[in-house]
Formats: sequence, structure tokens, C-alpha cells
Amino acid sequence: MQPLNLTEPEIRQCTWMELERAAQDRHHEWRTPVLATVGKDGTPNARTVVLRGAVARLQILQFYTDCRSPKIAELAHEPAAMLVFWSKHLNLQLRVRVAMEIQTTGPQVDAIWEQLSQSSAAGDYLSMDAPGEALAVGLAASSAAPGMRHLAILAAHVQEIDWLELRRAGHRRAAFGTNTWQWRVPMTWSVFDAPVIPSAALAAQPNSQP
Ligand SMILES: Cc1cc2nc3c(=O)[nH]c(=O)nc-3n(C[C@H](O)[C@H](O)[C@H](O)COP(=O)(O)O)c2cc1C
Repeated sequence: MQPLNLTEPEIRQCTWMELERAAQDRHHEWRTPVLATVGKDGTPNARTVVLRGAVARLQILQFYTDCRSPKIAELAHEPAAMLVFWSKHLNLQLRVRVAMEIQTTGPQVDAIWEQLSQSSAAGDYLSMDAPGEALAVGLAASSAAPGMRHLAILAAHVQEIDWLELRRAGHRRAAFGTNTWQWRVPMTWSVFDAPVIPSAALAAQPNSQP
């Protein structure tokens, strides 16, 4: 995406342009970031989600989920979350610090549901069983209960993006928000020419567990 020597505003603009593209393109590597949250007991939790929307003007990223899923309870308790995007094609990692807003009612949710309900994805938000519930052995999850939608929209308000570009000539890293910019020292390691250590050699380490 970025030829060398883009200016700082250009990097910011290209990053958001690529996020907006990813929200529209199911093959984009940034389409499925990892969302990390803080569990109610303070322990970390992370899972893959699909990027459904990105609006540079508002600095918002959007995701869909089931309002009964455990991540909703976690985010209601602690809205601070982190999204991690990696693209091998772009050689770019983003670590995006966000404040998550949960929307389950209102005109925007109704409008999205109106579209979703016409598609096969509607069933994902109509199941009678909550995601993560224990299943009795041999039983499949129950089928949809028409009329009871469990859609939640996650609106991630972006606070800071930690941008890391991998380059043979030397990695580059910066942290930026809407009006802030700071170049940072990148971790230096080689992703391009790193030797492959045979797993037998790792297993032979004195501290390795049986
Ligand atoms: C490629 C991929 C995309 C996914 N997209 C979503 C998504 O958009 N929303 C979602 O709630 N779960 C999505 N999941 C499932 C989550 O990773 C996770 O298993 C589920 O949401 C339960 O998470 P929780 O128990 O932390 O709430 C996706 C999983 C994969 C592998």
C-alpha cells in the first residue's frame, strides 16, 4: 500500500482508506481482526470478529455480534478494548485502542437488522440458545426462534492506532490519533530471513516440559 516516504498525514489517511476497503472486501486480510477484551475477573480474552464498517470521518469501526455473547458482558463492564489487524500483503500490523459502545436498540440497529434479516446471516442472531452455553452431548444447538433478534452492534471509537510496517530496510512504527502523531522505536527482528528452528531442537531445551 505505501510507497516509502509517505508523509505522516498520508500514512494516517492510507490506514483509514485501507480499513474502509477491508470493511467492504471479504478477501481483505484486515477483514477479520482479533478483538481483545478484559474479562470480568481481570483476565484477558480475545476472539476473531468480522469488520463490518469503518468510517474515517467519525473514527469508528463497526462489528456485529449476539447481544447474549460473553464479550458483551465484558465490554459492558470494561469498554476499553484492543483490535489487532495483520496483513501479510500490506506488511502492516495495526493495534487499535478503542472505547466500545454497545448498541442493541435504535434506528441504526433497526436499519442494519432490516438488511441482515433478508440474508442467510439472519439465523446467526435468531438462535434460541445463547452463544457459549453448554450443549448436552449429542445435541445440536436449537434452531431459530423467529421474531426474537439478538443482534448487537459494536461501535468501536478509535482512540489510538499503533501502526507497524515491516520492511527489509528496517521496520517503522508510529502511534497516532486524530490530532496526535509519535514515531516509536520498533521491535527489531527479522520476519523475512528468520531461521526455522526444528521443533526437535526446541524440545531439547533444558526447561522444556515433557
Ligand atoms: C473468521 C471468524 C469470524 C468471526 N466473526 C465474528 C463476528 O463478526 N462476530 C462475533 O460475535 N463472532 C465472530 N466469530 C466468532 C468469535 O471468534 C467467537 O468465537 C464468538 O464470538 C464467541 O466469543 P465470546 O465468547 O468471547 O463472546 C468469528 C470467528 C471466526 C473464526
